[in-house]
Amino acid sequence: MRPSPGSSPDTEHADAPGTFWWNNTVFYQVYVRSFADANGDGVGDLEGIRARLGYLELLGIDALWLTPFYRSPMADHGYDVADPRDVDPLFGDLAAFDRLVADAHSRGIRVTVDLVPNHSSDQHEWFQEALRAAPGSRERERYVFRDGRGADGSEPPNNWPSIFGGPAWSRVPDGQWYLHLFAPEQPDLNWANPEVAEDLDRTLRFWLDRGVDGFRIDVAHGMAKSADLPDVGDGFISGTAVLHDNDNDPRFDNDEVHEIHRRIRKVLDEYPDRMAVGEIWVKGDDRFAAYVRPDELHLGFNFRLVETEFDAEQVRSAIDHSIAAVRTVGALPTWTLSNHDVVRHATRYGDGELGQARARAMALVELALPGVVYLYNGEELGLPNVDLPDWALQDPVWERSGRTERGRDGCRVPMPWEGDGPTFGFTTGETTWLPMPQDWGSLTVEAQLEDPGSMLSLYRQAIELRRTHPGFAGEEIEWYGAPEGCCAFRRRSGGLICALNTSDAPVPLPPGEVVLASAPLADGELPPNAAVWLA
Ligand code: NOJ
Repeated sequence: MRPSPGSSPDTEHADAPGTFWWNNTVFYQVYVRSFADANGDGVGDLEGIRARLGYLELLGIDALWLTPFYRSPMADHGYDVADPRDVDPLFGDLAAFDRLVADAHSRGIRVTVDLVPNHSSDQHEWFQEALRAAPGSRERERYVFRDGRGADGSEPPNNWPSIFGGPAWSRVPDGQWYLHLFAPEQPDLNWANPEVAEDLDRTLRFWLDRGVDGFRIDVAHGMAKSADLPDVGDGFISGTAVLHDNDNDPRFDNDEVHEIHRRIRKVLDEYPDRMAVGEIWVKGDDRFAAYVRPDELHLGFNFRLVETEFDAEQVRSAIDHSIAAVRTVGALPTWTLSNHDVVRHATRYGDGELGQARARAMALVELALPGVVYLYNGEELGLPNVDLPDWALQDPVWERSGRTERGRDGCRVPMPWEGDGPTFGFTTGETTWLPMPQDWGSLTVEAQLEDPGSMLSLYRQAIELRRTHPGFAGEEIEWYGAPEGCCAFRRRSGGLICALNTSDAPVPLPPGEVVLASAPLADGELPPNAAVWLA
């Protein structure tokens, strides 16, 4: 039996009173465009997700994170929001959203939604009003407009690069410039203006009143800009997509951002059992921890495993840092291997079978850890990143970088559900918004569901065990001594052991009964590129 939303928190595995439903939860990120298309236009939609809830229940996940489905011209595929309190017709309407939430809840699946407070679309009515209004007007004060530098103001106000390439400033006809840390179609909002915060409160309440269980907050380390907008210094690395590679980057992680999170938290606290997770790309455990203090975000996306190679020492260090950071402020760690912004991990870890074997191993590592797991749709099928032809690329990064960076489309290719192509049951139409590789027949849900050796079967078993096996009790882990190229940890209260072998040779298994293995075990040994659970 799964707890249903609204019931008291599931304390099955909790060893401390007062834990909340998101503790030990497996979230599943639905990239809405790419999950399932119900109306045949080749783009995923809300009805498509609803039609596949049975699959998600079978997979065993506890909660969804839906990427933005709000009204948008789709310059950044929905992260450019023109109306945050309505559904884009491409994805459905508010009634479809309500049906999705109701059906998910009736299956015991919680629903969290994306929130994009750092910027709006340039088609948002506020920005259109700002363009029509004069410099210095109230309308311009909702965004970050400035006069340019140089005698005639023809130089941008500072030297900030945009995350997607090119300068972070664009000029409007009367000569002023506006800031956009991402695409020019995504003007940054001015968080020093109380109107901006008030509007976000409205958006939060709008969706909370509709029954959402929480939010994923986009660029949660952004929003606040220091008033003097200082130049970035020498040696600054730009053009790194969403990664934040600089120790000192005036565009992000300004201290004023914490006041914004405290305000968001106050609204959430008016509603029982709701949560927020922030996208936080910052340097250092302390900077990270500040975002998940008790009166700010409940959870922070931790990208340490995303940034880690398939190497036992690095994996161990990533885990240690992640746990240490949040423990200082009493928050839970989160774990993620892939999302819609990074190269899929099956590809990051190696080509073909090697990547698959390592992805299986890392799935067991991730799902053995205490705290909160975020899966990205398709990873449970072992989907690789796709090398798309130039003509198919749609990510703004491609054009903004002068076609030097291919962008993130390769990890956003639609889900293969069944059959041998061409659209693998993703849509009833004939084409999909990104082309699907025609050799994905063996990766479909249909092909994997009944195959006990498939990636999907591994995920299903692992998620089920995570929820039911007593070995997962407690919040602490301890490390075992392990041979070179290996690491092994144990859940301190429950006793489950997870061992990972990233070396080239088989190693002896730690003592215990095998609960689940990512690869066949022989002669009491764990093969290379594999992980095992023992109890
Ligand atoms: C982070 C999102 O995950 C990414 O997809 C988006 O492009 C940027 N924020 C801008 O909203």
